[in-house]
Amino acid sequence: MEARVTAHAHYAVSEIDPRLYGSFLEHLGRAVYTGIYEPDHPEADEAGMRKDVIDLVRALDTPICRYPGGNFVSAYNWEDGIGPKEDRPTRLDLAWRTSESNQVGIHEFADWAKKANTEMMLAINLGSRGLDEARAFVEYVNHPGGTYWSDLRQKNGQAEPWNCRLWCLGNEMDGPWQVGHKTATEYGRLANETGKAIRGFDKSLELVVCGSSHSDMPTYPQWESTVLNETYDEVDYISLHMYFENYQKNPREYLALSHKLDRYIGTVSGIIDYVKAKKRSKRDVKISFDEWNVWYHERKSDAKRMAEWDWPHAPVLLEDIYNFEDVLQVGCILNTFIRRSDRVRIACIAQLVNVIAPIMTEPGGASWRQTIYHPFQLASLNGRGTALRLDVRSPTYDADIAAGVSWLDIAGVHDADAGTVTFFAVNRSGGEPIEVSLALERFGTPKSVAHTLIQHDDLEARNTRDNPDNVAPRKGEGAKIDGDELTLSLPPYSYSMVRVQ
Ligand code: AHR
Repeated sequence: MEARVTAHAHYAVSEIDPRLYGSFLEHLGRAVYTGIYEPDHPEADEAGMRKDVIDLVRALDTPICRYPGGNFVSAYNWEDGIGPKEDRPTRLDLAWRTSESNQVGIHEFADWAKKANTEMMLAINLGSRGLDEARAFVEYVNHPGGTYWSDLRQKNGQAEPWNCRLWCLGNEMDGPWQVGHKTATEYGRLANETGKAIRGFDKSLELVVCGSSHSDMPTYPQWESTVLNETYDEVDYISLHMYFENYQKNPREYLALSHKLDRYIGTVSGIIDYVKAKKRSKRDVKISFDEWNVWYHERKSDAKRMAEWDWPHAPVLLEDIYNFEDVLQVGCILNTFIRRSDRVRIACIAQLVNVIAPIMTEPGGASWRQTIYHPFQLASLNGRGTALRLDVRSPTYDADIAAGVSWLDIAGVHDADAGTVTFFAVNRSGGEPIEVSLALERFGTPKSVAHTLIQHDDLEARNTRDNPDNVAPRKGEGAKIDGDELTLSLPPYSYSMVRVQ
């Protein structure tokens, strides 16, 4: 089949905020313990952090990392993770029915984040706790010194404040599974007062209020309207989450799910505009899509195991092993964020290590890249600059979730300083290649083209410790430029990055 795309240097969506390629690390399963932290591992540094994992994270160039949860944060006492390690208490983690040793806390995470070249995005417990703990935590993390909490931080070995700029006011507070779950009005009031207190400390901090846990929640989209009505003047972002499932093993339906994502973003953008108009406000609240990924491979069996186990420490949990089909899904998700980058300023892949993650580790052993590591890395490294408003003419199909799903999913980014235009394209069809002709208008005549391809004959192909590069990018063949016209062939079921310069 054939598709025609036009990109024009003056038709832009927005400058992309690099934080669109953020990540997330929760005290959950083996994300922290035997994920990033394993003091007895041969690769551990002086702080007990795995250097092999730090290298894999650094190579993703993820500008922010959300921490410490997730559901975990809603019953977490951050003070348990400070001071001498031998004095830290072991607590029950009510979210995942595990034990938390608190050997990693804010000091260890902040040091790790620096090594991993990422900024902290910290979440506050608004489930079991509230405003008072929030203000203490912010003071501990950000105040230079001379007060109770900042002096305690110094006593605990950190002289300078970490100066974390981005704070989440709780996590998924709409979810009945959340410790301290609230109604939209209860939560909105608490988030607003907590936001005010934090702004009393530092007006310039960026605050994220909880939106819906997903767009099938019974309270969606009224939740967004009520919460924003309470908090509009105090917050900068509303947080959305979405996990993608493929229980039917139906690629046509699975790969159409990014339409649902797109609708979700569109609806919440409309609600933001509605509340803004109602309040006669000049502020623009944006979207922080701070949990997204494929999550279904181990989900049902995990729920069963969790219900039966006896509070283990750092058990195997949510360790989805991704396949090649998930590469295509992650490609479509990232493309959607790029196309919506005027509204979605922040997004965090959930999560980063072992737990529904692009990076896997073996305790005492190897670490490797899951299949989805690759599209995320390609977009993170190359998808920065101005998102382009493309004109796309492609054959379509009707899925249950949406009619008119384009077989070609494509996003474009112009980096004027580097003189590059980069396209990320997914061929959703397993039946035939897509012959794409791409008109490049007003970018200057390109001189070279580079095509990177991820393709595998088996949608179920995975990367494992013993076969870590089974699904990996390789050089694509046959992309050509003729004047301002780029042509290339996208193989059936494939992810491509094509860059002209
Ligand atoms: O990422 C796993 C869990 O998914 C998070 O803890 C929670 O916020 C979401 O429901």
